[in-house]
Amino acid sequence: MNQQELSKLCHDMSLEEKLGQLLQLEGFFFQEGGVMTGPEQRMGLEENEKEMCGSVLNVWGANNVKRIQDRIMAAQPHHIPALFMLDVIHGFRTIAPAPIAQGCTFDPKMIYEGARVAAKESAVSGVHVTFAPMADLSRDARWGRVMESTGEDKYLNSMCTRAMVKGFQGENLADPYSVGACVKHFAAYGLPEGGRDYNTVELSNRTLFEDYLPAYQAGIEAGACSVMTSFNTLDRIPSSVNEWLMRDVLRDKMGFNGVLISDYNAIGEAMKHGIAEDAKEAGKLAMKAGVDIEMMSHCYGSSIKELIAEGEIDEELVDEAVMRILTLKNELGLFENPYKDASEAEEIAYILCKKHRDTMRKLSEESFVLLENDGILPLKAKGQKIAFIGPYTKKQDLHSVWSIIADEKDSKSLADVVPKMFGGNKYTFESGCNTVEVDTVFNGFNSTVAYEYDTKEAEEAAIINAVESAKKADVVVMPLGEHRLQTGEAASYGELKLPEKQLELLNRVYEVNHNIVVVLFNGRPLDLRSVKSKAKAILEVWLPGTEGASAIANTLFGKNNPSGHLSMSFPYSVGQVPVHYDSFSTGRPKGKESSNVKFCSRYIDLPNTPLYPFGHGLSYTKFKYGEVSLDKDTLTMTESDVIEVSVPVTNCGEVDGTEVVQMYIQDVKGSVVRPVRELKAFERVELKAGETKIVRFAITEPMLRFYDIRMNYTSEAGMFKVFVGGDSTCEMGIKFWLNR
Ligand code: NOJ
Repeated sequence: MNQQELSKLCHDMSLEEKLGQLLQLEGFFFQEGGVMTGPEQRMGLEENEKEMCGSVLNVWGANNVKRIQDRIMAAQPHHIPALFMLDVIHGFRTIAPAPIAQGCTFDPKMIYEGARVAAKESAVSGVHVTFAPMADLSRDARWGRVMESTGEDKYLNSMCTRAMVKGFQGENLADPYSVGACVKHFAAYGLPEGGRDYNTVELSNRTLFEDYLPAYQAGIEAGACSVMTSFNTLDRIPSSVNEWLMRDVLRDKMGFNGVLISDYNAIGEAMKHGIAEDAKEAGKLAMKAGVDIEMMSHCYGSSIKELIAEGEIDEELVDEAVMRILTLKNELGLFENPYKDASEAEEIAYILCKKHRDTMRKLSEESFVLLENDGILPLKAKGQKIAFIGPYTKKQDLHSVWSIIADEKDSKSLADVVPKMFGGNKYTFESGCNTVEVDTVFNGFNSTVAYEYDTKEAEEAAIINAVESAKKADVVVMPLGEHRLQTGEAASYGELKLPEKQLELLNRVYEVNHNIVVVLFNGRPLDLRSVKSKAKAILEVWLPGTEGASAIANTLFGKNNPSGHLSMSFPYSVGQVPVHYDSFSTGRPKGKESSNVKFCSRYIDLPNTPLYPFGHGLSYTKFKYGEVSLDKDTLTMTESDVIEVSVPVTNCGEVDGTEVVQMYIQDVKGSVVRPVRELKAFERVELKAGETKIVRFAITEPMLRFYDIRMNYTSEAGMFKVFVGGDSTCEMGIKFWLNR
């Protein structure tokens, strides 16, 4: 349709039809079973009312989508196709590593490829728009949703968000296998007080603008067709009814003109927040804020008509929202083809195909972070007795809760793949204990826990057997970790430890064998002190997805040389949280970590710095950084002026490897306090054994901008320092100046 035809359609629609377009309903209104990603509520809808809805969530499958689409279109006076939206967070059916892991790749190109795979599988299954990427900056590991974020850094997050949006949407939304992206959760959902999901967010406008908004902005600039509001309050106003945030900031300042959708019942929750007396007031506030679609609440449908009649709402606001929704449907080509790419034949051809598995395996391999290694890794391919002991040894389910369509039957376990891939050793495989205590209760979607050992006695017998195997082994590989239900939405934890039983298993194995390699499956940074003290190597594999087991096997045996670097700092203990590398210098800085001065900013019982810093990651080879040099030491305010930074990086080990070279800049003095350093550029550099490459970065004036004392986004003349290295603690700060 052209613009004129769209406007005419909107003009011809009745108010009831228009309000229908603003409503998004769960799949359970149209089908038996399926997944639910929020609290069930039927909202008192009449049969004909539900078929007037403009969009549906949590429905997939070509056949299914077509059937529901037919039903909706037949019921609507103007036969408007519905939008089908789904949480495709890290892969559709061929599952990618969780976003926190994808951040560790520092490889936007590979992240883009992963999103292309997810888009293709989603599209052939009838999905039009995915509720991803999540661009929320995450610095509090207690929050279960850190697994859905690409980490603690605004620059890395921005690069990853952009890559995902481009990967989902392709060149053009109407193209085959493109799905729309929905950047979420606007805004600052990643900072709930105490790390408790859905909790209040308190932060200054400066921090909001400077640190929290850039990743959403990157998604918008990459062309994301939609944005989702967040559940939290910001400055004590729930986002979904915050007119300043949605209109002044998101639309006017950030330039977003696509569809704005509320999170699940987030408009309705304005009543629980105590900011709206009833659904009518909530609907009025959200409409004024410019929220186009209400997901699973009925505030618009039940009250806008009355609000218009009372003169409280201008019908033009409704028309604007409807036009944005119709425009998106048009951009997706739904008026010409309401099924878009839904195809049973292509579901069979593409879902879980080899190419998709290979892409996801590569993404997994790049995301693994070698936290520790005294040389025990890589494992020898021949002649060893290797005992695999831990609850992730035989598990096929290597996904997160946000892999709604995943089926563990699509994946293999370590016990399945290792002997086949590396048959030269003698292996034993034991779980040793359950992932979580037998009586643990998890609620919500995907919440069934399969226990290998039903009783404490059975578990104790398993530990005894495992210890016997450990005694006889040359090396013990321990796949330990969080259960997937311990991460994700509504999965906040006050402690950041591995489950007790698994720590007990580690201790008891350690009593008989010190050659321990821990392979860690988790969705958040953990307090790893007790693991570090016992393991000779720790390989962080996160929630690695469908091809996780083969990716891990390749890495343990050196076929893949680990190259991931942490996208979030790992604290010593929960007491340090939030801990992030781009903190501020206080008036009483601690100086050296070993300093014991009384009146300075420090903990008495803990270091200030994390156990593993942002950007950390080892390799099976060693990289040596030469001297960092600048081609000049002064930059002018002209946007095109550039300082070139160069550093020779040498692979001085015996195997080929990839290093993530990171460049950080410190603005030494500003009109407001500036972070001690900020990531400004990075590059993955492949180096053959013995090879040296000169890595070059450009420093330009726009990279030095920030919100000054008057909240202008600008740079200030003065001295800066640039640091280049393999993690966020790299030394050798070289000075340069920005001149007025
Ligand atoms: C609530 C979550 O916060 C959001 O991320 C998700 O997309 C929706 N539910 C839909 O499932």
